[in-house]
Amino acid sequence: MKVLVIGNGGREHALAWKLGQSRKVDKVYVAPGNAGTAVDAENVPIAATNFPELIRFAKAERVGLTVVGPELPLTLGIVDAFEKEGLRVFGPNRRAAQMEGSKIFCKKILRAGSVPTAAYSEFDNQQDAVAYLNRNSELPVVVKADGLAAGKGVIVCDNGAEAIDAVKRICADREFGDAGNRFIIEERLTGQEASVLAITDSKTIMTLQPAQDHKPAFDGDRGPNTGGMGAYSPAPLVDDETLHWIESHVLVPTVHTLNKNETPFRGVLYAGLMMQTGTKTPAKVLEYNARFGDPECQPLLMRLQTDLVDVFEAVIDQRLGLLPPLAFDQRPAVCVVMASKGYPGSSEKGFPITGIEDAESIPDVKVFHAGTALDKEGRVVTNGGRVLGVTALGETIAEAKRRAYEAVSKIHWQGVWYRKDISDKAIF
Ligand code: AMP
Ligand code: GLY
Repeated sequence: MKVLVIGNGGREHALAWKLGQSRKVDKVYVAPGNAGTAVDAENVPIAATNFPELIRFAKAERVGLTVVGPELPLTLGIVDAFEKEGLRVFGPNRRAAQMEGSKIFCKKILRAGSVPTAAYSEFDNQQDAVAYLNRNSELPVVVKADGLAAGKGVIVCDNGAEAIDAVKRICADREFGDAGNRFIIEERLTGQEASVLAITDSKTIMTLQPAQDHKPAFDGDRGPNTGGMGAYSPAPLVDDETLHWIESHVLVPTVHTLNKNETPFRGVLYAGLMMQTGTKTPAKVLEYNARFGDPECQPLLMRLQTDLVDVFEAVIDQRLGLLPPLAFDQRPAVCVVMASKGYPGSSEKGFPITGIEDAESIPDVKVFHAGTALDKEGRVVTNGGRVLGVTALGETIAEAKRRAYEAVSKIHWQGVWYRKDISDKAIF
């Protein structure tokens, strides 16, 4: 079978690499891909949002399965467009992808399903929001633009003045454009965060092993938020008992409520959770994503032993319940993101990268590419903010971390930086 992966990040490299290992797959294409997917698969120069061209390609090449990585094409309806043409595609349709594309839609589903989450109010103008903040000035809040804002539409506020400023940024400055036409103000939660991803066909839920991301740019969780500077799995913070609790109190009611709402979800449902360990409600939902996390996907797929094609096809045919549970390598995996100077702000591109082969010669290490490209001479060069996700397995998290950083130390380019403490939260 031929498989097409849509996207160009580290998540899509990991998906292409894993799908390529399936006994059912003889060819993997990635559109548009990066320098890493050019090696592990074949790149197709079509943008992830150019649906007519992607459909034309999938038909011409007789692609048997298309897997959509990023949220933007999902929320724009890529799955609806492919299905209309009779093409087999893994991911939620446009309506179901609102779980990520609209924070208000997501909150309504959570509320209807009694899923634990922060209390919130919905707004569409500055005046009402400021009046609300003045009435509730003692409450720590988070202000969130409703729509997709490249991960930047969430403003965590330390005090009332910051919250009023956040509202101004959304309404008056229109920092997030139309994504901020509506917004929510919600209770600020505290605790450690964890990511629990599940694959669902809307009838059966297959929960993946828990993972933890590192969103702040710098060591010790300081600095601006990023797309994620590293991840590891499993997350010892989410033990088996807690994972079961999350399945029955978070994932099951979410999937059930989506069905009742006539927006059945088929794809990856990613719960971003604030852990409240030791309380009656050990986890509350911060957000849902409608896809694999990046970089969580990289350590998760390093550990996954089940053939992903079988799982994705079962979701498309709604027979996930007939499959055995997912099998994972018991060894933990750690992924360290190597970034360009300037990230998460703007960064220069085009710096040659050396040492990737050396890094990959270490056993149980895989270097997933994100912002990379091949230059005219065929050299691998930087092409974005998050450049590589260096991922390693080890007998323990400490061992996986040591191995990942040993691999990182072999790789160089001008301006490279990375966090030095990925997975430390898991090492007690
Ligand atoms: P989101 O895109 O909704 O996951 O938000 C991005 C980040 O903002 C999360 O990973 C949290 O660190 C933070 N965040 C979101 N909602 C809340 C909340 N209610 N309380 C505290 N922090 C939050
Ligand atoms: N790593 C967070 C995300 O993919 O949204």
